[in-house]
Amino acid sequence: MLFNQFRSKNRLISKGIKFCLQPNRRGLFCGTPNTSVNKEQCSNNDLPPSGKSAASEVVFEFQNDWPANIRHELIRDMVLVEDFINEPEERLLMEEVEQVTKRMRYEYDHWDDAIHGYRETEKKNWYPKNREIIDRIGKLAFDGNVMPHVHVLDLAKDGIIKAHVDSSRYCGSIIAGLSLLTDCIMRLKRVDETKYLQGRAKDAYQVQVAESEGSTIEFNYYVDVLLKQRSLYIMKDSARYKFSHEVLAPGAIFKNQEVNKDRRVSILCRNEP
Ligand code: OGA
Ligand code: MN
Repeated sequence: MLFNQFRSKNRLISKGIKFCLQPNRRGLFCGTPNTSVNKEQCSNNDLPPSGKSAASEVVFEFQNDWPANIRHELIRDMVLVEDFINEPEERLLMEEVEQVTKRMRYEYDHWDDAIHGYRETEKKNWYPKNREIIDRIGKLAFDGNVMPHVHVLDLAKDGIIKAHVDSSRYCGSIIAGLSLLTDCIMRLKRVDETKYLQGRAKDAYQVQVAESEGSTIEFNYYVDVLLKQRSLYIMKDSARYKFSHEVLAPGAIFKNQEVNKDRRVSILCRNEP
């Protein structure tokens, strides 16, 4: 996969579910709406020593009226693991990432583009200690079936990611992201997934899903997800295809509190389409 194809001028979107994870097969996050985390379902066996699955009522803020089944799916398919890494591990990852990114400029392209104030790279080789972390993500989120190239995205303090759905030409049903340096809010907005029922061969759409024209179905419900510094999210299946995702600007509100997003580096792993 050519990296700049994945992230070309406009985000590419389409859909093509290749396989489905069984609900809760990793025994991870599994809160149900309005209840606390179900301890029986949530054995944290696969988590790192420091990691814990996050309870939905803590990290999710649901907005507007959600059909119960869709909300249930979303909670199942958007998994959050807090403290996936510790501070020394975060520093070590940053050290290695910065060797590449420090030479790059933050890009502020046209306002139409999906992402603003960013620099990015793709990395295959890692220092052994960092390799261990990447492998932990691969094992936990992908059962080892992960693409070898890891996408590193460095968003400036004022950088944002606008609503988009990743192209299914270049990415399978799972996206896992480790958030470094800051907390931020990721908003998942329901989109009309039938619009994205594109074959792989067919060229993917150009983005801005939220504002996309010609949508036959309109939804007004969304969820804000608090992505804490050093947490890992695993976005799969319904969360990956039925919702667009975006990263809000500094000062956005989560549960009545401002989240002062700062510079943010994310380590993103994906599986093959
Ligand atoms: C992307 C993206 C999210 C993140 O690069 O397509 O949505 O957590 N990134 O940085
Ligand atoms: Mn994306």
